[in-house]
Amino acid sequence: MAREGSVYRCQECGFAALKSGTCPDCARQGNYIQLVEERQGTAKGRRASTQPGSAPVRLADVSVEAGERTLTGVGELDRVLGGGVVRGSLVLIGGDPGIGKSTLLFQTSRALADLGAPVLYVSGEESAAQVKLRADRLGISPAELYLLAETNLEEIEAHTVSLKPRVLVVDSIQAVYLPDLESAPGSVSQVRECGGRLMLLAKRTGVATFLVGHVTKEGALAGPRVLEHLVDTVLYFEGERHHSYRVLRAVKNRFGSTNEIGVFEMTERGLAEVKNPSEFFLSERPQGAPGSVVVSSLEGSRPLLLELQVLVSPASFGTPRRTVLGMDYNRACLLLAVLEKRLGFPLQTQDAFVNVAGGARVVEPAADLGLIVAAASSYLDRPVKGNIVIFGEVGLAGEVRAVAGLEARLREAAALGFAGAMVPRNNLLPGAPLPLEVHGVGSIDEAIQVLLGT
Ligand code: TYD
Ligand code: MG
Repeated sequence: MAREGSVYRCQECGFAALKSGTCPDCARQGNYIQLVEERQGTAKGRRASTQPGSAPVRLADVSVEAGERTLTGVGELDRVLGGGVVRGSLVLIGGDPGIGKSTLLFQTSRALADLGAPVLYVSGEESAAQVKLRADRLGISPAELYLLAETNLEEIEAHTVSLKPRVLVVDSIQAVYLPDLESAPGSVSQVRECGGRLMLLAKRTGVATFLVGHVTKEGALAGPRVLEHLVDTVLYFEGERHHSYRVLRAVKNRFGSTNEIGVFEMTERGLAEVKNPSEFFLSERPQGAPGSVVVSSLEGSRPLLLELQVLVSPASFGTPRRTVLGMDYNRACLLLAVLEKRLGFPLQTQDAFVNVAGGARVVEPAADLGLIVAAASSYLDRPVKGNIVIFGEVGLAGEVRAVAGLEARLREAAALGFAGAMVPRNNLLPGAPLPLEVHGVGSIDEAIQVLLGT
């Protein structure tokens, strides 16, 4: 019988009910989990401890301590964090298993410890010996780096309080558990509760904390996703498994912008920072090949030059094939349709394959014009004239529209030795000095005439 005033909670998903029984939320997925009566006093007790003597203060009276940030020594990570890691902050790093999260945080720990800041690296998945093997592969380990192979969160808290490190790394949040909870490590209730406890620990002790969270293949982010609202910063570490480059992207940041990206390359000896990603992505570009163009993609304040390739070839029968790697499939199909309708390229009889070289991704419409030019170049089997970068958004009428960040894009192109750029005419201001020769166009017709000489 349900008692008056009691609350029942599912240990698995946290569903709260006023009556005992099975959890309706879990039952829907075929798990008949019993609701457990919430212990009286836990909720109240917790509330009291999180807010010791809290009282409203005037905003103007709130003091911000200077020097709150610590540079990690890994420049690309510092950039994404917004200039180093903030004291007492909780940072979640999510990503596919095997993408390099442990490697990244281990290297960061080493770099921090090298700078004299004590770091506690808690490994819940690998034994101390395994971590040591990785460390040996990456080079010598500094004295201020402490290792703890532990999954019991209460132990981790105790060690953190006694060691007082500058930075704590918990690898991973799915591996740690609180013995008080009945559910298994990695379950939603464990992840949520452990995340909450680590947040309190970070705020109370001022230890900056990094949490590793695995994202499952299906995109069911049961683990890390439940923490996103709680933590200060969420970073995702992404990349194609078969390509060596990795991108670190902020999706939430209470202490900085979410536009910045960090680029790394996975090497034999760990992750190397890629200071000049454009150079990296263009390193294998063929010269004078039809269907290959260089486009500019702006990620935050960082312009990336990428090689976009299109292969157009006669379709053998039926519906022509469209295969798109590295950009949005629907966008690519739309642009091919614009090329067909506006300029009469008979693409309905042609297969088209689109690829961004190096396993990179373009998420910006600024690559539109590049795709159109590359498709036309491949169809005509004629390479694009000159050593140039192409960018501009293309509309359904075949018009070329202005894009943001003209100057940053041009500067990057000039820095990499490009002779010129084709840009939207509407982006050009009369008389503005430009770092390289620029050709403004208003339509795809114009662009193709200039670049392919039709
Ligand atoms: P890891 O950091 O363990 O991934 P995660 O913690 O995200 O699961 O990295 C796993 C992969 O990285 C592994 O397949 C091997 C590769 N790797 C290298 O290529 N070079 C290296 O120096 C290291 C340490 C790992
Ligand atoms: Mg790992």
